[in-house]
Amino acid sequence: MIILDGKKTSNDIKIEISESVKEIVAKGSRPPHLAAVIVGDDGASLTYVGSKVRACKKVGFESTLIKLPKSISENELLEKVEELNNDEKIDGYIVQLPLPKHIDSQKILMAVSPDKDVDGFHPTNFGKMTLGLPTFTSATPYGIMELLKRYKVETSGKHTVVIGRSDIVGRPISILMSQKSDPGNSTVTLAHSRTKNINDLTKQADIIISALGVPNFIKADMVKDGVVVIDVGITRVPDNSQKGYKIVGDVDYENVSKKSSYITPVPGGVGPMTIAMLLMNCLKSYQELLKT
Ligand code: GUN
Repeated sequence: MIILDGKKTSNDIKIEISESVKEIVAKGSRPPHLAAVIVGDDGASLTYVGSKVRACKKVGFESTLIKLPKSISENELLEKVEELNNDEKIDGYIVQLPLPKHIDSQKILMAVSPDKDVDGFHPTNFGKMTLGLPTFTSATPYGIMELLKRYKVETSGKHTVVIGRSDIVGRPISILMSQKSDPGNSTVTLAHSRTKNINDLTKQADIIISALGVPNFIKADMVKDGVVVIDVGITRVPDNSQKGYKIVGDVDYENVSKKSSYITPVPGGVGPMTIAMLLMNCLKSYQELLKT
C-alpha cells in the first residue's frame, strides 16, 4: 500500500511555485497577488482562508484578505467583486463559500471575471474544463489529478466510482477522469444520494473518489483488493483535544488501507493539495494577465 502524501506533494509544488516567483521578482516584476473574500465568521471557512493566505506568504505571493460582515447585502458584495475585477494589482481572487443565505452565491460567482477566477467556478471556466480547453480547474479536482499524475497511478481503462455530485468536487472530477488524458481515460460512474446499492458499485471500482462528507462511510467490505482510494471528506468531529474537534474523512482508513494499492490519508491527503493548486492557478492567472 502506498500513501498518496498530499502534504509532501503540495510542499514540492509550493517549492516549484516559489522558484517561479523568485525568477519573476529577479527580473524586476512584482510578485503574483491573490485576494480572498470571506463573508461572516464561520470557523471552518476562516481556517481555510487563513491557510490560503499563509500559503501565499510561503511562496512569495502578495495576498489580501477581505473580511466582510455577515450582514453585507448582495449588492454591496457585487460592488466588491467588481472592484476586484478592475484592480490591476490583483491577479486572482476567490470568494469563500458558503455565503450567507440572503446572498445568491451563483450571482456572485457569475460576477467574478473569468480571467481572475482562480477557483474555476465561473461557468466559462467550468465549460472550458469540460471541453478540455486550457482554463482554471477548481483546486480540489485539480489537486486530485495532480496527485494521481505525480504518483503515476494508472487510470486508463480503469473503473472509477465517484461518490458525490457537488459542483466543486464530484461533478468536475467525474468529467476530468473520463477525459482523453493522462490521468483520465477512466470509465466513470458518478454515484450520489439517490444511487441504489452503492456497495455493488464500490466493490467493482478500481478507483474510488469519495466526496460525500460522511465520516467513515467507505468500509473495508465495500472495496476490492488493490483499490485506489481518494478521500475528499473533511468532516469536523468533536473530540476532547484542545481544538475541540478532529478532521475525519469519508473512508475507514485503518481497515480500507489494508486492501488498497494507493490511498490518501485525512488529514494530509487531498486537503493540502487544494491550496497548492489554488496557488498554481494564481501563478497562471498572473502570467496570462501579463500577456494582455
Ligand atoms: N469552500 C469550500 N471549498 C472551497 C473552495 O475550494 N473555494 C471556495 N471559494 N470556497 C470553498
